[in-house]
Amino acid sequence: MAEEISVLINEETLDQRISEIGAQISRDYEGQEVHLICILKGGTFFMCELAKRITIPVSIDFMSVSSYGNSTKSSGVVKIIKDLDKPLDGKNVIIVEDIIDTGRTLSYLIKVLKQRNPASLRLATMLDKPDRRVVDDVDVDYTGFEIPDEFVVGYGLDYAEKYRNLPYIGVLHMTE
Ligand code: IMP
Ligand code: MG
Repeated sequence: MAEEISVLINEETLDQRISEIGAQISRDYEGQEVHLICILKGGTFFMCELAKRITIPVSIDFMSVSSYGNSTKSSGVVKIIKDLDKPLDGKNVIIVEDIIDTGRTLSYLIKVLKQRNPASLRLATMLDKPDRRVVDDVDVDYTGFEIPDEFVVGYGLDYAEKYRNLPYIGVLHMTE
């Protein structure tokens, strides 16, 4: 099996959209500060680019999560591999994700993080596959692009840990 990648969203388009989201966040929280929580590893590229374009004070933290095996996947329980360094009390928190697929990961994370008393909690995702959603309690506040149900790589997203470093979003095709 060979892997081929076709460009879905090029670097310039991504840059432009991330600038718009950065400006939007800067307006929405004018006079306040935001605390970005990057979900490792996929969210790193988007978070760095987004943070650079926010003009109000920004602090950042990281969290790493993984889904439990398939048997319990429908329960939506995810395991926290690396927790945040700092508490969230009183902070304007924005979770920064690479992609929302079924929404299970975010649905669980939102519940966990709400219990930590942030002043506010919003969600930013670079990509959203709305057709794949299986939960109804994940409201996205900032979306880069809605994409069709295809497996994508690049800009932080991987296939077996490969392709995260591509500067664009591409669709992965398996060929003979
Ligand atoms: P969810 O819990 O189904 O929303 O899972 C979201 C996670 O699955 C993302 O954070 C990605 O790590 C991974 N994922 C979902 N779709 C893709 C894709 O098209 N390419 C790469 N990773 C994906
Ligand atoms: Mg992810």
